[in-house]
Amino acid sequence: MTSTTQTVEETIKPHGGQLINRQVEGNEKEQLIEAAQTFPKITLNPWSISDLELIAIGGFSPLTGFLGQKDYESVVDNLRLENGLVWSIPITLPVTEEEADELEIGDDVALYGEDGHLYGVIKLEEKYTYDKAKEAQNVYGTTEVDHPGVKRVYEKGNVYLAGPIQLVARPKHDEFNDFQLDPTETRALFKELGWKTVVGFQTRNPVHRAHEYIQKIALESVDGLLLNPLVGETKSDDIPADIRMESYQVILKHYFPEDRARLVIYPAAMRYAGPREAILHALVRKNYGCTHFIVGRDHAGVGDYYGTYEAQELITQYEDEIDINIFKFEHAFYCTICENMTTAKTCPHDKSNHVHLSGTKVREKLRNGEQLPKEFSRPEVAEVLIRGLKEN
Ligand code: ADX
Repeated sequence: MTSTTQTVEETIKPHGGQLINRQVEGNEKEQLIEAAQTFPKITLNPWSISDLELIAIGGFSPLTGFLGQKDYESVVDNLRLENGLVWSIPITLPVTEEEADELEIGDDVALYGEDGHLYGVIKLEEKYTYDKAKEAQNVYGTTEVDHPGVKRVYEKGNVYLAGPIQLVARPKHDEFNDFQLDPTETRALFKELGWKTVVGFQTRNPVHRAHEYIQKIALESVDGLLLNPLVGETKSDDIPADIRMESYQVILKHYFPEDRARLVIYPAAMRYAGPREAILHALVRKNYGCTHFIVGRDHAGVGDYYGTYEAQELITQYEDEIDINIFKFEHAFYCTICENMTTAKTCPHDKSNHVHLSGTKVREKLRNGEQLPKEFSRPEVAEVLIRGLKEN
């Protein structure tokens, strides 16, 4: 952690200094929707729609649109926007060459979802081709298509469109309506709750005891926890977001004081970019108003692509610049001799006493309707998961 601890009211500025809002309201919105009927149109997949939403609501501040070529190349090569500000993952709008050929620089282009709804407009400033192998290698650290993020790079269109966007309709998160807050709203909420220091927690998995352990250690030092699960696109064998959301509610209800934690969705797609995605996750949570962020074991990793602490090592290099305090945690587990959650830093006992379950094993047990060991998962959480997966 950096030596000075930031508080929401005093110093936690959005990345780049200003919270972006590209949502159009009222008359202006009606006029734009009307005008968009005559604009050339393209259809965005759910991944791009979630990027559009995050730009518009300020989650991706200071971005006001999809990256132009100079920013893109600077991010891929140097983890920075062209102006030098740290940014680790390129936020881009891919289309096919055929689609790009239909569009002229200067066009306003209507952005539709696969559901046929108009969500926004981009003022087209650039269209450019890019080097997929380089993007894969630099951002994901591999060109292997078995990596789910790399697979997406190779599947997407060969041209990126760039320019500022405007949002005219919010993508629907119907089942999560009660947990949908924008960065301006979470900032107001923290103020209302009197939280001066807030730790953000990213997750794409159902909550287990190690998560709870590191959240609670962090909570011993700060005023509140923003449990901020990613609910956008994930790989097909991850547990679906609706089931996970139920598991988060259950753990908060049974194991956290009511006034110390809030559940809010992070409507992004999962990249599985490990170290680079950890930096994006921290920057976004800063935009949501968090003063602290947790990076544990193999953050945003997949398979064996990243070292256990590679994300921590990379974020440490940028920690002074990104202005959010990072809580780093070692791999946590239950030790049957300590009779406690612990890590190698605090437990002297042999590995044979540690309760370990792989993600695959957990899913296998849950799908067979088997309870998980209480050292691994709270029983209330396991019940939700077993029921959820049975209905799925
Ligand atoms: S992630 O892809 O969203 O990072 P996950 O939901 O599993 O995956 O992890 C959420 C956060 O908890 C990450 O910061 C991760 O590093 C951390 N984490 C997960 N499991 C453990 C563990 N056993 N010990 C320490 N940290 C962990």
